[in-house]
Amino acid sequence: MEAVLEPLAAAISAFQAARPVSATDDAVWRLEVLMPRKPDPRRIAALLEKAIEDRSLSARSMQVRRVPKVDWVARVASRTPPLRLGRYFVHGSHISAVPPGSLGLKIDAGAAFGTGLHGTTRGSLAALDRLASRATVSRTLDIGCGSGVLAVAMAKTWHRPVWAVDIDRVAAGETRANARANGVAHLIHTRCGDALCAPGISRAGPYSIIAANILEGPLRKMSSALARHLSPGGSAVLSGLLPDQAERVRARYRALGLRLRHRIEIDGWVTLLPQKPSYSAASTQQSSVSNRPSG
Ligand SMILES: C[S@@+](CC[C@H](N)C(=O)[O-])C[C@H]1O[C@@H](n2cnc3c(N)ncnc32)[C@H](O)[C@@H]1O
Repeated sequence: MEAVLEPLAAAISAFQAARPVSATDDAVWRLEVLMPRKPDPRRIAALLEKAIEDRSLSARSMQVRRVPKVDWVARVASRTPPLRLGRYFVHGSHISAVPPGSLGLKIDAGAAFGTGLHGTTRGSLAALDRLASRATVSRTLDIGCGSGVLAVAMAKTWHRPVWAVDIDRVAAGETRANARANGVAHLIHTRCGDALCAPGISRAGPYSIIAANILEGPLRKMSSALARHLSPGGSAVLSGLLPDQAERVRARYRALGLRLRHRIEIDGWVTLLPQKPSYSAASTQQSSVSNRPSG
């Protein structure tokens, strides 16, 4: 649908609705298309029909509305109040005072996902806050870094190197900019590419924490590689999941030997915190062999 509407649009955004309309729906998406000129609804309907014919989608409803003239900068500032999540205080640059004892994450709304308002980001930050009090960390990884909000949070929490990767070049650029804006550019190494296959990401592991706020499909696809690149005792923060998807992802990671330590649900979005055992069966056997007295 995005592809057929693109020639008419100044901007298109697609959002997955938090809850399917009925139990038989796989996913419901909302597409918002900003057009510089008044569109002809019949033309749009014809274009959408073509997309549906090609890809067996179904369009439930369409609304055409005029966008009133507004001061967008002021509007964004007023609609992005700072957010407190555990030790984190996520705020735009229109706010400069960070409450004492909090870790300020300065993130302005931009082209990449991750202002901190969405339930998946909030769940991920809540999970990092939980880990902050107990995890021993040497290096961390943020897969699907978007704005870089989680990478910045990890850098400010542990002061250890963070690798951040996004498949979208614009997002990788925003992560670099936000790392600079937050004074942690020296700790965050940003790459553009596909998860653990991106240049240097695999080599930099294993990681004490891997945060991945993506979607069920990529989280399942990368599960073996992700588990392999976690240090013994390391934790994953998996987000971007509706409850039934979270169940399938939990089962997948459990099959790989990771134990679910915690589950967070915010606004219908689930974040999972699975942990790799400190010693795998193989490494335990190995150490008992090497500890045997020689001779
Ligand atoms: C929901 S956003 C998360 C942004 C941010 N980490 C947060 O928690 O708010 C998901 C991001 O994952 C990226 N992404 C999707 N598939 C990816 C992949 N295979 N490898 C790397 N990044 C991916 C998208 O481009 C998008 O920026």
